[in-house]
Amino acid sequence: MGTMMGRSGAVDRLPEFPWDRLTPYKQKASAHPDGIVDLSVGTPVDPVPERLRAALSNAADSPGYPATYGTPALREAIAGWLGRRHDVAADPAATLPTAGSKELVAWLPTLLGLGEGDTVVYPELAYPTYDIGVRLAGAVPVASDGLTALGPARVPLVWTNSPANPTGRVLPAEHLRKIVAWARERGTIVASDECYLDLGWDGVRPISILHPDVCGGSHEGLLALHSLSKRSNLAGYRAASVTGDPGLIQELLQVRKHAGMIMPAPVQAAMRAALDDDVHAAEQKERYATRRERLRTGLEQAGWTITHSEAGLYLWAEHPGCDAWESVAALAALGILVAPGDFYGPTGARHVRVAFTATDERVAAAVKRLEEVG
Ligand SMILES: Cc1ncc(COP(=O)(O)O)c(C=O)c1O
Repeated sequence: MGTMMGRSGAVDRLPEFPWDRLTPYKQKASAHPDGIVDLSVGTPVDPVPERLRAALSNAADSPGYPATYGTPALREAIAGWLGRRHDVAADPAATLPTAGSKELVAWLPTLLGLGEGDTVVYPELAYPTYDIGVRLAGAVPVASDGLTALGPARVPLVWTNSPANPTGRVLPAEHLRKIVAWARERGTIVASDECYLDLGWDGVRPISILHPDVCGGSHEGLLALHSLSKRSNLAGYRAASVTGDPGLIQELLQVRKHAGMIMPAPVQAAMRAALDDDVHAAEQKERYATRRERLRTGLEQAGWTITHSEAGLYLWAEHPGCDAWESVAALAALGILVAPGDFYGPTGARHVRVAFTATDERVAAAVKRLEEVG
């Protein structure tokens, strides 16, 4: 992109927005007589639970600046949820609200002061924003699942993502423990994106990097990111948090205060209400469990193979003999839109990612169409 005065814009460091490549398939799927079933993005479609809306509107009269650190009640709620649901003993002082996880994924390398000559590692098949954040900081992105192959590079930050987007893969405690040990030997920070932590299926219980079985009870050098977008249908509110090494959290807090990265007060109130209540989260999880089961059965009966997918909101699917884009085209012909696996890295070239965040009615429509060809 052209810039004046020889300036190179941050935008020049970023890749093309890949989703534009799906547009023709979206048009094709939209032409289906019974309408499109859009399973390409993982955006919640069910209502925001009533008590969360009430908490938001009760805090509507918020004329003053909110604290970047969040209210003490919100930090208690973050630590409370981690202890109650995930056996993580977190000090409320070592938590911080963020305006969605994506915001922190995109800015963490910058907030940590990383730049030229710093290598940041993230999974080979990954949510694209890890790479974006590294590029925004001017650091060196490396997509790799093998830390030992990195050689002498200076690696101040490693990202992990379990349960993973796009594959739904869950890393066992043992695997995470090895990453933490590797990082601690080198003084590397591990940032663990755990936005699907509550969404394990068929008895699978994803474990946080902050769990004592992984980190030995010390959160030194560790940051765990959690989001209410999926657990509580709050993607529209932008409600998430980061918890971990008390020194790193204070460092992030200082920079975020200077930079004006503040969660709005009414959202803080809604987030607290969401974290203090497990009932709505269980109900929502049940809805997703049913949709997942229906879609999985429909896809398998139509000849698809599902791998991983033991947690999160996606089915990682492959059709024998088809690459990702042929599969996207075949499903678009049925009016079903999915994401090609190569959006997440070259090793996804044979898969598609099928989100089960559509309404029951749309999921039923997709299953019916799959049955007709299956
Ligand atoms: C792996 C991963 N990290 C982060 C996010 C962003 O979540 P949030 O809505 O909290 O910004 C997503 C959203 O889908 C995701 O898949």
